[in-house]
Amino acid sequence: MRGPPAGPGPGPGPGPGPSLRRAQLLTRALARAPSLALLLLAALAPAAAYECSAHPWIDDTVKHWFTPAYRVAQESKMTVNESLDTIAAIKWAHPTGKSMVHLNFNKTTNLYDLSFEVLHKHNQPHKPEGMQRIIERAIQQHNADLVRALKGRNIRFIFGTEDFPILYPRLKTAVPSFQMCADTMRIDVPVPDFTFEVYHQTRYRNTTWEAVRQLLLLKAGQMPWAHRERALFMRGDAGVGYRKTLIPVFEEVQSNGTDTQLFGVRSDVHSTGFYVSDPQRKFTWLDNWCQHRYLLHTAGFSYSASLKYKLACGSLVFAFEGAYREFYYPALKAGVHYVSLNESSRDEILNKIAPQIKTAIKAAEALPDGPAMAAAARDFALTQLTQEALSCYWYRAILAYSKLFFAPNSAFVPAEVTFN
Ligand SMILES: *[C@@H]1O[C@H](CO)[C@@H](O)[C@H](O)[C@H]1NC(C)=O
Ligand SMILES: *[C@@H]1O[C@H](CO)[C@@H](O)[C@H](O)[C@H]1NC(C)=O
Ligand SMILES: *[C@@H]1O[C@H](CO)[C@@H](O)[C@H](O)[C@H]1NC(C)=O
Ligand SMILES: *[C@@H]1O[C@H](CO)[C@@H](O)[C@H](O)[C@H]1NC(C)=O
Ligand SMILES: *[C@@H]1O[C@H](CO)[C@@H](O)[C@H](O)[C@H]1NC(C)=O
Repeated sequence: MRGPPAGPGPGPGPGPGPSLRRAQLLTRALARAPSLALLLLAALAPAAAYECSAHPWIDDTVKHWFTPAYRVAQESKMTVNESLDTIAAIKWAHPTGKSMVHLNFNKTTNLYDLSFEVLHKHNQPHKPEGMQRIIERAIQQHNADLVRALKGRNIRFIFGTEDFPILYPRLKTAVPSFQMCADTMRIDVPVPDFTFEVYHQTRYRNTTWEAVRQLLLLKAGQMPWAHRERALFMRGDAGVGYRKTLIPVFEEVQSNGTDTQLFGVRSDVHSTGFYVSDPQRKFTWLDNWCQHRYLLHTAGFSYSASLKYKLACGSLVFAFEGAYREFYYPALKAGVHYVSLNESSRDEILNKIAPQIKTAIKAAEALPDGPAMAAAARDFALTQLTQEALSCYWYRAILAYSKLFFAPNSAFVPAEVTFN
């Protein structure tokens, strides 16, 4: 992902001191004029029950992401309100874009009403809007489940829309924040980002993941492996992250004509430039990515939202393991869904990574219908990255969060992440 040059805030960041006081002031200001910031949605009509056990990876993944937050909560001396104020106050050069989500029990409907409150301006309005639509669907789908599990108690949590996680363990909060990706240094819980709902960069008329997913799955189904191009393909902005190392090496070997010798097939890796400043260069429609047998994936500025599209193509995905991970990554297994590569230097790419790619491609080229990994990737996008699964993920994440939110103090935080 890449947004305006916000910067990940590598500095020491805010302690709970002055910024906490500022957050309390802010909370009070909002309390005085709630109508300014509060958008109340009418009671959401509950949907028919849906069985989340159709997606067995979700509970494991939610546990994985919540484990660091539970560890920190076990040692937290803060109240939940102090923790939320601390999260609200986190800033880099500017306060990071964040909203509070309120689930308030409505005695008339016996269901939760959902509302969103902007705490700090988001860098682009479509980001919170997109994430909110996914939360709305999740609450609609699981409203009655949540009422039962939380016994109608009101709950609230913060989500953000920067490209990076924000919450360091040393802040010792009793609850985590929800962000678009996670890393190992911070304890934010990753949730589906806005691109699952709106992603202008794809240029389609309907940019929802659901619509694009259907298009890619259809295209993948219509393109037999035998007729796909024998090429290793990637498009992305070369100006960010690991791509700054990787893409120039590919451009070098492509112009030298040594790509086929290195990888066993020709490579077609080009920079698109930053999509805002350089919109025409080397743009390729997502569905045309699928006509290639081999797709390369790397992180972008932080994570890159493009992995889900590559999975849907049913091509063999070569993914460099990056530091920033989206919510569903733990469900993907190296060697089952994709070929895992380590981020490496220019020389290592030529001497170590290229032979790894060449070996995997050689094995795949021997299979008339392509490798099982390509089919497994497509199957994951088809059956597991559905709207219903995204709703399940949010539902289970809210349950895991509720154990922290409703714990009277750190002594009541469960030893393990739990849902019931
Ligand atoms: C509860 O829901 C009803 C029906 O949608 C709505 O009219 C009412 O305003 C809600 N109550 C509160 C306190 O928001
Ligand atoms: C925490 O904050 C909420 C919302 O401002 C408030 O209603 C509640 O009373 C506070 N809880 C405590 C224990 O202070
Ligand atoms: C986009 O596609 C999705 C999935 O097919 C559909 O539910 C939605 O209504 C479409 N949105 C628009 C604006 O057409
Ligand atoms: C590409 O060609 C240039 C010029 O001959 C050479 O310096 C460079 O080492 C070559 N790179 C590779 C990866 O073969
Ligand atoms: C990547 O690096 C890790 C840790 O350095 C190592 O254990 C692993 O074997 C490497 N993977 C590959 C595919 O080289």
